[in-house]
Amino acid sequence: MNPIKLTRVEDFGERNLRSFRILGRHVGVFRSEDGSFRAMEIGCRHQNADLSKGLIKDHIVTCTWHGWQYDLRTGECLRGGTSRLRHYDCTVENGFIYISAQPVESAQPKAALEDADLF
Ligand code: FES
Repeated sequence: MNPIKLTRVEDFGERNLRSFRILGRHVGVFRSEDGSFRAMEIGCRHQNADLSKGLIKDHIVTCTWHGWQYDLRTGECLRGGTSRLRHYDCTVENGFIYISAQPVESAQPKAALEDADLF
């Protein structure tokens, strides 16, 4: 499936994280310190809070609901649970950001279920 054209790089402005609804999925696009972009699902693995409304410091987002933390470079959950957010290929071409239509990694449903019992 072809990548999906998302938005212009310049539309990010000063923001480093924006969320989009793509093919029924809530996806966040994060701009790294080096100016590259990464895309991943944006629903917290705990109770599906919108992480685009979370607190971002460096490359870590903290969920405002119960404090779980994720590395925006890898999707890894650093605090709270063990499952990671699924990634999408993200590229920039002619000033536009594109993401893959399918996640790169498969979900980890067993780990996600285990996470739900931690808080
Ligand atoms: S919903 Fe994110 S920590 Fe609970």
